[in-house]
Amino acid sequence: MDKKTYYITTPIYYPSGNMHIGHTYTTVAADAMTRFKRLTGYDAYFLTGTDEHGQKIERKAEEKGVTPQAYVDEIVANTKELWKLMEIEYDDFIRTTQERHEKVVQKIFRRFYEQGDIYKSAYEGLYCTPCESFWTPTQVVEKDGVKCCPDCGRPVEAMQEESYFFRMSKYQDWLINYIETHPDFIQPAKRANEMLNNFLKPGLQDLCVSRTSFKWGVPVDFDEKHVVYVWIDALSNYISALGYATDHDELFQKYWPADVHLVGKEIVRFHTIYWPIMLHALGLPLPKQVFAHGWLLFGNDKMSKSKGNVVYPQPIVARYGADALRYYLLREMPFGADGNYTNEAFLTRMNADLANDLGNLVSRTVAMIEKYFGGILPAWTDANDAEADVPLKEHCAALPRLVEEQMDKLQYSQALSEIWKVIGECNKYIDLTQPWVLGKDEAKKDRLANVLLTLAECVRFVAVLIYPFMPTTPARIFEQLGVADEALKTWESLDAFGKLPAGIKVCKGEALFPRIDIKKEMEALNPGEGKEEKAEAKQEKKEQKAEKKEKKKEEIPEGCIGFGDFEKVKLRVARVIACERVEKSDKLLKFRLSLGDEERTVLSGIAKFHNPEDLIGKNLVLLANLAPRKIMGIESQGMLLSAVAKNPDGTETLRLLTADPIMPDGAEIG
Ligand code: ME8
Repeated sequence: MDKKTYYITTPIYYPSGNMHIGHTYTTVAADAMTRFKRLTGYDAYFLTGTDEHGQKIERKAEEKGVTPQAYVDEIVANTKELWKLMEIEYDDFIRTTQERHEKVVQKIFRRFYEQGDIYKSAYEGLYCTPCESFWTPTQVVEKDGVKCCPDCGRPVEAMQEESYFFRMSKYQDWLINYIETHPDFIQPAKRANEMLNNFLKPGLQDLCVSRTSFKWGVPVDFDEKHVVYVWIDALSNYISALGYATDHDELFQKYWPADVHLVGKEIVRFHTIYWPIMLHALGLPLPKQVFAHGWLLFGNDKMSKSKGNVVYPQPIVARYGADALRYYLLREMPFGADGNYTNEAFLTRMNADLANDLGNLVSRTVAMIEKYFGGILPAWTDANDAEADVPLKEHCAALPRLVEEQMDKLQYSQALSEIWKVIGECNKYIDLTQPWVLGKDEAKKDRLANVLLTLAECVRFVAVLIYPFMPTTPARIFEQLGVADEALKTWESLDAFGKLPAGIKVCKGEALFPRIDIKKEMEALNPGEGKEEKAEAKQEKKEQKAEKKEKKKEEIPEGCIGFGDFEKVKLRVARVIACERVEKSDKLLKFRLSLGDEERTVLSGIAKFHNPEDLIGKNLVLLANLAPRKIMGIESQGMLLSAVAKNPDGTETLRLLTADPIMPDGAEIG
C-alpha cells in the first residue's frame, strides 16, 4: 500500500543577510515535523529555500559592490551550511533565481494576464522595501511626520510607475467564504479573524504585481521592462519546486496540496490572502493549513536581519551541539506564541531538562545495570509491584499517542513536555523503588531486575520519541543501552511496553549532556554580558540588607535568634561533582562540590546512609560560611545539611537535604 503523503514548507528566506536563530526556528520546526511524520509512517516531503529577487537584495549588492547573484550565492552557501549544522535535512532547496522556478513564474503570470486576472495600469502609492509591501495612505502610520510601514515601522517610499495589477477584489467573497468554512486553514484561529476583520471584510484592493523601477526580478515575458512583484514570484515556489506546469510534474501530482506552510506571523497576510487567490485563479486546491508561529524576540523587539539585533546559532551549536539548541527552540515557547531568546534561559533549560532529567536517567539506569547485573540486561521476572510499576508502564505505553496528538496540532512544546513527564516519573520511580537497597539483598534480585528493565524500557521509548526533535541523541542513548536491533528503534516497536530483550550488553558512555556552569558559559557566549547590571543589583541588595538589619534591632525572646543572626548563616546550593569514601573511615564521605564560582571540598559523616555514587550530580544544601576545619588531615570547607530521625529500634534514618535540580550551582538559600 502506498504511504500517506505529507508536504511541509518553510518560507523561502531573503538572503539579504545571514540567517539567524529566527529563521532557524521555523526550519528546525519543519525538520522535526518531517522526521516525526516519517517516523510514524508517512511519505513526507520538506521544502525550504531562498527568495532572492527584489529591490532590497539589489540595493544590498550595490552597497557591497557585487552583482546581486554573487551576493545571494554567498549567503545561500552559508545558509545551507547552517542547516547542515542544525541537522536539518530538507528534500529540496529552491532558489527563486533558478531557471526551473523563473520559467514557472513566467507561465503563471502570463496565464493570469490571458485569463483577465491581471490588467495594466499605473501605480501611485507607498512601498516598504524591507517588507517588499505596498501600502495605501490610510494604512501607513506616521512617526515624527514620516510615513512608516504598519508592519515593520520603517519609512515607506513614494512610488509612481506603470504596473500590472491583479484583480484581488474579484475573489474577495469567495475567500471570505473559504476561510469561514475551513476553520483549520489558518492556525492559530486568531490569525484567521485578523485576516477577515482587518483585510478581507473592509474590502480587498487590487494588488500591484509588477515593477519597472529596478531589474532584479523575473522578467514578464510579454512585456520585458516589467519584473514580477517579489511576492507573486516567491509564493509560486511552493508549486514550482514540485514541477508544476512542466513536463515533470510527478512531485506536484504526488504532494500538492501542501499539508502545511509554516510561516512567521508577519507574513500570514501573503500566505492566506494573495496565495489562496493565486491558487484559486490557477484552478488549484489550497494548502490544507497555513500555521503562523510567533517571533523570537530580542528584548521587546522582533529579531531581524535589517535591525541587526540578532542571535546566530553557530557559537551556541559549537559549544553545546545542535540537539540542545533544537530542543530549546521547540520546547521553550508554545508554537504560535512569541518568546524571548536569552542565553541564560537556554543554559538553564540545558542543565535542568537535558543534563539533569534526561542525562541522569540514562546514566543512572545504565550504571545500575552494570553494577547489579554485570552490564547484561536480565530477563523480566514476575517480581512486580503493581503500585509502583503499573502507573509508569501505562503512562509510558500511552506516550506515543500523547506525543502524536500534540504533533498533529503542531504543538511541539507540548509534545516534548509529554515526553519529559515520563522522564520525571522515571526519576521518581528510582527514588521510590530504591534499587540500591534492593541490590543489597540477594533475595530481591528478581525485583531489582524488573525495576531496572522497566527503566531501560522507558529510556528506549524516550529515545525513539525524541528523535524528530533531537536527531543525534537517540543513537548515543541506544549505544549506551546496547540496543543495536533497528526494529527496537521504530515507532511500531512502541506498540507494547516490555520489548527490550534479555542478554544485551549496556555500555556506559560519556554524559549525554554534561552539567554546565551557567555563569561561566554566559561569559563564554557573550563576554561582559550583564556585568554592569549584576554589580548594580549586588549593591542594591547590600543596601537593602543593611536597612533590614537596622530595623531588626528589636527585642529577641529567649531561645530565639534574630533575623540578623540568621542572616549570618550563608546557605548555598552545592552540586556534587565527585564523592568518595575516606580511606580508613567508615563514617566519612569526601565531597567535591561546585558553587558555580568556586569549588569546595567538604567532609560529611554520612557514609552509613548514602552511597557516594548515588549523590553525584545532586544539588545539596551547604552551610557555606562555617569556618574550615581539618578532619583526618583533610580540610573541610563547609557543612552539608541533612535531615535525621530516630527510629523506634534506636537506629537512625538520615538523608541529605536536596535543592530543586533547576537551581544553578551556588544559588543562595534564604
Ligand atoms: O519574509 N522569530 O523572508 P524573511 C521567528 N522572503 N521567526 C523568524 C524571525 C524571528 N525573529 N525572523 C525570521 C520573507 N523568522 C519572505 C518569505 S515565503 C513565500 C517568502 C522566520 O527572510 C519566520 O518564518 O524575512 C519568518 O516568517 C521568516 O523567517 C521571514 O524570513
